[in-house]
Amino acid sequence: MQLPKKVLTSLLLFLVVSVDVRKNCYVPHTDGVDDSPAIMEVFGRCNVDSNIIFNTNIIYNAWSPMKWFNLTNVNIELRGQLHLPTNITEIQQKVVATYGSSTAPWFNIQGTNVNLRGEAAYKAGIIHGHGQHWWDLGVRTSRPLMVMFNVSTGTVSKIKMIQQIAHGFNVPGKNIKITDHYVDSVPTNGTRDSPASFPFNTDGFNIGGQNITIDGYYGNNGDDCVSIVNKANNVVARNGYCGFSSHGLSIGSLGSNGQNSQVANILFENWVMDGAVYGARFKSWAGGNGVAANITWRNIVLKNVSTPIFITQNYYDQSKGPKPNNTAPTSTHVQNFRFENFSGYMNPNWTDGTCISDPCWNYVEGINGTQGIIFDLYNGTATGLQVKNFHVRPYKGTEKDTTVICDPATLAPGAQDSLGFKCWDGQFVATPIHK
Ligand SMILES: *[C@@H]1O[C@H](CO)[C@@H](O)[C@H](O)[C@H]1NC(C)=O
Ligand SMILES: *[C@@H]1O[C@H](CO)[C@@H](O)[C@H](O)[C@H]1NC(C)=O
Ligand SMILES: *[C@@H]1O[C@H](CO)[C@@H](O)[C@H](O)[C@H]1NC(C)=O
Ligand SMILES: *[C@@H]1O[C@H](CO)[C@@H](O)[C@H](O)[C@H]1NC(C)=O
Ligand SMILES: *[C@@H]1O[C@H](CO)[C@@H](O)[C@H](O)[C@H]1NC(C)=O
Ligand SMILES: *[C@@H]1O[C@H](CO)[C@@H](O)[C@H](O)[C@H]1NC(C)=O
Ligand SMILES: *[C@@H]1O[C@H](CO)[C@@H](O)[C@H](O)[C@H]1NC(C)=O
Ligand SMILES: *[C@@H]1O[C@H](CO)[C@@H](O)[C@H](O)[C@H]1NC(C)=O
Ligand SMILES: *[C@@H]1O[C@H](CO)[C@@H](O)[C@H](O)[C@H]1NC(C)=O
Ligand SMILES: *[C@@H]1O[C@H](CO)[C@@H](O)[C@H](O)[C@H]1NC(C)=O
Ligand SMILES: *[C@@H]1O[C@H](CO)[C@@H](O)[C@H](O)[C@H]1NC(C)=O
Ligand SMILES: *[C@@H]1O[C@H](CO)[C@@H](O)[C@H](O)[C@H]1NC(C)=O
Repeated sequence: MQLPKKVLTSLLLFLVVSVDVRKNCYVPHTDGVDDSPAIMEVFGRCNVDSNIIFNTNIIYNAWSPMKWFNLTNVNIELRGQLHLPTNITEIQQKVVATYGSSTAPWFNIQGTNVNLRGEAAYKAGIIHGHGQHWWDLGVRTSRPLMVMFNVSTGTVSKIKMIQQIAHGFNVPGKNIKITDHYVDSVPTNGTRDSPASFPFNTDGFNIGGQNITIDGYYGNNGDDCVSIVNKANNVVARNGYCGFSSHGLSIGSLGSNGQNSQVANILFENWVMDGAVYGARFKSWAGGNGVAANITWRNIVLKNVSTPIFITQNYYDQSKGPKPNNTAPTSTHVQNFRFENFSGYMNPNWTDGTCISDPCWNYVEGINGTQGIIFDLYNGTATGLQVKNFHVRPYKGTEKDTTVICDPATLAPGAQDSLGFKCWDGQFVATPIHK
């Protein structure tokens, strides 16, 4: 039988369109020298319709900060490893020389349709920061961000972040899916409760973009696993594990220096928090502005977590003097925050190794290891808060020993009726939710 011409034509068209037109560009490596110039040469030459391939079993010397910009339809295949220099001064000097600022990214990625792909294999897909040196020496200023992933449409999959110096990934882009992410920022010889060699500020993700999904995260670090920052909208973060001394699944901080922050439509679900300081956390600065709306945390398992649910709309740096007076009656408003299905037990210690000031940065009057929920709200600006199916106990004791800190004078009118627990300073008592 002969195929009609029309069918033949579309078949041919289909074949042509589906042929992979991307070129393969392999990144060279030379032992003992900075590979960055060679890497940049490849990114310049293969910035459109390309697969840029970092070869298997190769440790690339990523000894200079790099801007991988102007990429269109590019797959970055990280089959080997990218290692930063081990010399702290060298890193600090190079970042300043590149950006004029000391907290800029080491790997800065921009473009459209960009996929950063690691691999599941043990020695593949690794970005190594050699952060241990920084943690041992307690160097906590002038630290680079590891990766800025600022793309429009893209993916990040199976990347392993090892010993981040400080922040891991910043994601300010849009339409991005992140899967099977791995973070190991645990000191070889430090503990959760000691500042010595503690991996300060080793956030997994800071997300300020739109339409972002994280699905699959396994991380041990010393700060937020996922932190949602100003301008984030439509973000889902699900199926994760946060260990060592995570600071939680966080929104903020928002409203710093009076900033008008806008964050909306965020969902965290199916997380195990192990040894964390917080489970779910919201933080906005005293005197801030803007709104955070429609935020849900659900199906959260807590193992040894200091404070399972924490909201402050009145944050200030306690180590830098007394609480500022909120001169304007503003604060970042909080609307429709849902906390559903939290279970597990708390940590006996309400803080961790990041507690290096007096008073401690996260000290709250009355805190003693029994508080399952702390709401430090700004009078009248928090609406639609709800806690449901909360079954958490202190490290020692039963659910009956769980307490809350919450000032009913700060609740918006009628808010207690749908809050789901009694807002007071005392025992956790579930209350009926009236619609
Ligand atoms: C990206 O493209 C713009 C415009 O063509 C150019 O000015 C810029 O130098 C490029 N950036 C990099 C890092 O290649
Ligand atoms: C580290 O880098 C700095 C600045 O480039 C340099 O002066 C110093 O000699 C380096 N240290 C080592 C141990 O290589
Ligand atoms: C992200 O990229 C956009 C251009 O696509 C640029 O305008 C913006 O400044 C970048 N943001 C950051 C944080 O680099
Ligand atoms: C961990 O080991 C390093 C290198 O020996 C050392 O500088 C650091 O002080 C140690 N940290 C702790 C907490 O013992
Ligand atoms: C986010 O996704 C929605 C639905 O697909 C789309 O309408 C919207 O334009 C996207 N936002 C951005 C910033 O791309
Ligand atoms: C919050 O969700 C409601 C209901 O889905 C929606 O109407 C509203 O626009 C959302 N708020 C923001 C700031 O996106
Ligand atoms: C509550 O969370 C646990 C742990 O994630 C999950 O196994 C369980 O199915 C959840 N229950 C409901 C009713 O969603
Ligand atoms: C809980 O954390 C404390 C340190 O804060 C530690 O001593 C204890 O062993 C941990 N318990 C479990 C079961 O992990
Ligand atoms: C805040 O205002 C009160 C009363 O007006 C005043 O006593 C206090 O000193 C002020 N605090 C600061 C930090 O300005
Ligand atoms: C709790 O953590 C603090 C801060 O790191 C530490 O000083 C203290 O010893 C810890 N307490 C216990 C009981 O482990
Ligand atoms: C909270 O604000 C309301 C009016 O918005 C006011 O009547 C009330 O006194 C305030 N309460 C506190 C504790 O400041
Ligand atoms: C901890 O503080 C709460 C008040 O917030 C109090 O009810 C409880 O008895 C205290 N528990 C312990 C063990 O000190």
